[in-house]
Amino acid sequence: MKKKIIILAGGYSKEREISLLTGKEVNKALRNNYITKLLDPKGDLIEELRKFKPDIVFNALHGRFGEDGYIQSILESEKIKYTHSGVLSSSLSIDKEISKKIFKLNKILTPKSFKFTFNSFNNLFYLKKKIQKHLKFPVVVKPLNEGSSVGVQICNKNNLSISLKKLSNYDELLIEQYIPGKEIQAAILGKKKIGAIELIPKRKFYDYKAKYSKSANTKHVMPADISKKNYEKVNQIALKAHKLLKCRGVSRSDFRFYKNKFYLLELNTQPGMTSLSLVPEIANFNNISFDKLLETLLKDASINK
Ligand SMILES: Nc1ncnc2c1ncn2[C@@H]1O[C@H](COP(=O)(O)OP(=O)(O)O)[C@@H](O)[C@H]1O
Ligand SMILES: [Mg+2]
Repeated sequence: MKKKIIILAGGYSKEREISLLTGKEVNKALRNNYITKLLDPKGDLIEELRKFKPDIVFNALHGRFGEDGYIQSILESEKIKYTHSGVLSSSLSIDKEISKKIFKLNKILTPKSFKFTFNSFNNLFYLKKKIQKHLKFPVVVKPLNEGSSVGVQICNKNNLSISLKKLSNYDELLIEQYIPGKEIQAAILGKKKIGAIELIPKRKFYDYKAKYSKSANTKHVMPADISKKNYEKVNQIALKAHKLLKCRGVSRSDFRFYKNKFYLLELNTQPGMTSLSLVPEIANFNNISFDKLLETLLKDASINK
């Protein structure tokens, strides 16, 4: 008998649209072999789960509520197996402040940064002094727990104030050292290194448009154009981060590569699976088809982990 699968997609985060695309692609691939239902989680989520009684939930959500441990804890309490990382791993990974602390404690290089709260933003002069003391302009200002480059801004001394105003709907931000160089992202699937891709955006940086709109013409270089030794190294760091954060299924780690060093920016536990997404592209290069990729995630689905 065919297994029943609910694909959760949409949700409440700023990455809702991307999640809907991921969900559509996943549903298209799975519906041949399974009884599938694409579900946008709303207030009646638990009722819907109990009605359909899925064998597995495929989590195609991104960002808050879907990638941060909340949805995972609902599925745990409903005792339904789900794909991707569990509660603890998701909540640690989505928080850039906490995950960077874990990276640093375990000797994984990550750009210097400090947390900034708007309560303490009463004097731009002192903030600039603090930045100059601990970091160097330009810096990157970003929300602590968004994805898809939402809100991420590169600032110099003159546009810092404008950038902060744009982000004033967030309570807390991360102010991080800007690292020039290459953009490299490495994926882990089922505890195995599957490769690293290089992104060369035409835009100022790898922002939302550079990530998701074809017309932005971001160049994808697979495998990343770095030495064999460095290629092995970046994959190794991604595996170390994946294990440290106790990830399950798949993860994608985002790096900057500068002066022969890799700086880990963050690890994503719910990387995108749209046609422009990087994990399917990395997998494909390793002869892992999209169907095989999804099968691996379904096989790994569980609770209590
Ligand atoms: N410290 C940094 N130095 C240089 N570029 C950065 C830095 N932080 C972020 N970026 C750019 O912004 C993008 C998004 O930042 P990231 O930390 O990965 O957050 P998100 O969760 O939004 O993907 C990165 O892929 C990179 O292009
Ligand atoms: Mg990122």
